[in-house]
Amino acid sequence: MLYIGIDLGTSAVKLLLMDGEGHIRNQVTKEYPLEFPQPGWSQQNPADWKTAVWEGIPELVKGFDVGQVAGIGAGGQMHGLVVLDAEDRVIRPAILWNDGRTAKEVDYLNREIGTEKLSACTANIAFAGFTAPKLLWMRENEPELFARIAKIMLPKDYINYLLTGVHATDYSDASGMLLLDVAHKCWSQEMLAVCGVKESQMPRLFESYEPIGTLLPEAARQLGLPESVKVCAGAGDNAAAAVGTGTVGNGACNISLGTSGTIFISSERFGVDPNNALHAFAHADGNYHLMGCMLSAASCNMWWMDEILESSDYGREQARIEPEKLGRNHVYFLPYLMGERSPINDVCARGTFTGITMDTTRADMLQAVLEGVAFAIRDSFEVAKRLGIEITSSRICGGGAKSALWKQILANVLNLRLEELESEQGPGMGGAMLAMVACGLYPSVKDACGQLVRTAGTVLPDPALAALYEERYQRFREIYPAMKGLFASLCAGEAKK
Ligand code: XUL
Repeated sequence: MLYIGIDLGTSAVKLLLMDGEGHIRNQVTKEYPLEFPQPGWSQQNPADWKTAVWEGIPELVKGFDVGQVAGIGAGGQMHGLVVLDAEDRVIRPAILWNDGRTAKEVDYLNREIGTEKLSACTANIAFAGFTAPKLLWMRENEPELFARIAKIMLPKDYINYLLTGVHATDYSDASGMLLLDVAHKCWSQEMLAVCGVKESQMPRLFESYEPIGTLLPEAARQLGLPESVKVCAGAGDNAAAAVGTGTVGNGACNISLGTSGTIFISSERFGVDPNNALHAFAHADGNYHLMGCMLSAASCNMWWMDEILESSDYGREQARIEPEKLGRNHVYFLPYLMGERSPINDVCARGTFTGITMDTTRADMLQAVLEGVAFAIRDSFEVAKRLGIEITSSRICGGGAKSALWKQILANVLNLRLEELESEQGPGMGGAMLAMVACGLYPSVKDACGQLVRTAGTVLPDPALAALYEERYQRFREIYPAMKGLFASLCAGEAKK
């Protein structure tokens, strides 16, 4: 049988077709636009996601026996607010995970409601990208639209709704709404009241690997698939990526170098970071995880290459970086192009280059971008270490993981062994694997991981280079605190305009 994995990302949807033995039989990518209507705002039109999936699936299955397609599973960009009216029409563009418009609402939640109460109700505190502050923002700034909300859901849930007609979400993705009582896996009545919404406006909760329904006749006809195809609840993209990289069980770690950069630590027990710097979310295998998320990871490299250098030859640009320069760069880059989430939680933080001199080269600047992202991931890694979590190696996935140089930098900055996988398509692969469990091919997500995930290589840190990077990281750590006050006043200036 065949299974479709949907990775509903920020810049594109990546679809893959996988057989029951875990071989990827076909892949299709469809891009869609991303709007930045004001600095730090980020939104997308759910209709564009639909078009991309509806065009992509027929292409994906072309030439295959569609009667063999048994299941569909999606991993989706998390936290995005999708609101539907009583006729299930989208009310406004989705406000995305990397949108920073809710600084006031985050402040209200963390100060007035209080981080202690938030953490007790949801296992997390407010961050600008989370869904609850976006609801408060809508209530304040778009009251007529807010009054029309009949259903609230997350990006991949909207696609699942179009496929099946069922309003559903899964625990991993729902964890990032700040509306779920993560420990008890139910909606938090206190948080729903704080946001002025009722449980009837929320989707039904499922485990990621549970089927939510089969294809609607109309959707099946349009996609060219049998109506019997089962759709599973799916997962947030990071939990799906963790499944796709086999990151299950206690202390297993995955790093994703996608548009965002995340470090994901799986756990069989529920646990909260006492300082809430790491998110405490449900995992797609039925358990839990801790996660640090930086907002701009591979997107920093993309910004530097596409916008600044106007070059699409990523490999050639990286080849200009001389090996002996690694660990010795005098230029530092703060990768906060969309503000930053973990661990500093500052929507006003901005990107900067520091330490440029007349002899700084184009290659030094690119190296600083790649290193800045690695240092920022280390910031979350350090939080995990301070919690006493022992991480001895990590899997790695995401577009940035295609670069051997970036992986080498990361392994040395973290002083950690990185395990490469046959495919770096974590969320799509995880989505297809969740569909296999929903269809009964494997009894559990853990079993599916054991059977299907294959490592392809290892990147080891080099002790001398790791020592050099240790020094650089200590310098890097001083830059943000020195800039923080200035970022806040620049931000206040922008807000007045
Ligand atoms: C995780 C997060 C991002 C998005 C990117 O908390 O916000 O990783 O899920 O798609």
